[in-house]
Amino acid sequence: MRSTQVAIVGAGPSGLLLAQLLSRNGIDAIVLERRSRDYVQARIRAGLLEWTTVELLQEAGVAERVMRDGLVHDGFDVAFANGCHRIDLKGLTGRSVLVYGQTELQKDLVQARASDPGAVLWEVADVVLHDWDTRAPRVSYTHAGARHELRCDYIAGCDGYHGVSRAAVPPQQRLQFERVYPFGWLGLLADVPPLHEELVYAHHERGFALCSMRSRGRSRYYVQCSLGDKVQQWSDSRFWDELAARLPERYAGRLVTGPSLEKSIAPLRSLVTEPMQFGRLFLVGDAAHIVPPTGAKGLNLAAADVRVLARGLVEFYRTGSTTLVDEYSHRALRRVWQATRFSWWFTTLLHRFSADPFAQRLQSAELEYLARSSAASRTVAENYVGPSFD
Ligand code: APR
Ligand code: PHB
Repeated sequence: MRSTQVAIVGAGPSGLLLAQLLSRNGIDAIVLERRSRDYVQARIRAGLLEWTTVELLQEAGVAERVMRDGLVHDGFDVAFANGCHRIDLKGLTGRSVLVYGQTELQKDLVQARASDPGAVLWEVADVVLHDWDTRAPRVSYTHAGARHELRCDYIAGCDGYHGVSRAAVPPQQRLQFERVYPFGWLGLLADVPPLHEELVYAHHERGFALCSMRSRGRSRYYVQCSLGDKVQQWSDSRFWDELAARLPERYAGRLVTGPSLEKSIAPLRSLVTEPMQFGRLFLVGDAAHIVPPTGAKGLNLAAADVRVLARGLVEFYRTGSTTLVDEYSHRALRRVWQATRFSWWFTTLLHRFSADPFAQRLQSAELEYLARSSAASRTVAENYVGPSFD
């Protein structure tokens, strides 16, 4: 039987960043990933990093490309009623965000871990967690056709929304808070110059739209769609027409269109699991919580969980103290609920929810207030750049 100090399930951003931070602190970890390396490196997801996330990537030694290729954004636009209101992140909070695709970050993390042979096992099947409520947890799994067992001190469940880690905890031992939103996002990636040098979040009676980017030559756009929509119903030209229809005229007029490299539909959901720690099992990132993508908090929350957990494990292996490790759930959840509240509110502000005229008037009033009140803009900016606490 093999053994390690920390067994990590899942090689998404959470699992790999945790493994990397632990390794730099002399702590041994093995990552078990269900998918292939190529599959994991090709997944297309959001791409906005809070500055605390950037700092953690620097601490992990994986920020070289992030700092070179990432685009610093000091603000973004909220478009509505054929006009625009800029949220001046830098002016209102002193902080900026960095646009850098999660796909690229995933590659950077895989590359960093590749220097440690055997630290990540790809294409592992049937992962089962054992005895995580004792001092001697184990993880069993199938790899290259054979069944194995891994002994460890701790298990980090970094296996996302569909993983086995959260499901390993009996439902009566955890609380689950959930909201499912009545629409999805249809995303399109294309090698065309971005509409604007900053992101544009648009509220329109036809529905929400977002103009984002990956680089100066690659754009990422989204439109709110029905939950029942299929990607095949959305030709590129239908997508571009719909996007243009939801933007203020001065933006729609300069939209550069082109063939899609990728198109996909994602449902929107808020989910929080409490607690995030069960004996010697920790839930990290999407395994513990999901936020709707409005505001791009998913990856940043995952990184914040990793920071808290890595600090706790480093303290434990240095001093034998479990004080920080035992505070993991409490500390992580404070930030999780802040981001859950903000992403729910920002989603509610910008999307079309119903045909109820009263609700629509309130939404318009709130947008107007945001445009007129520097206090309201500052509230948005503070939440968007993210809190500085752990
Ligand atoms: N066994 C092993 N690996 C698994 C299993 C399993 N049973 N189930 C899932 N996995 C793997 C998935 O294949 C995936 O690579 O766990 C990984 C989870 O990664 P993510 O879903 O990316 O979750 P996380 O690392 O927490 O990243 C959070 O990514 O999903 C976005 O919006 C999210 O930006 C946020 C960030
Ligand atoms: C993205 O670029 O994919 C993105 C950016 C900001 C968001 C959501 C997604 O709020």
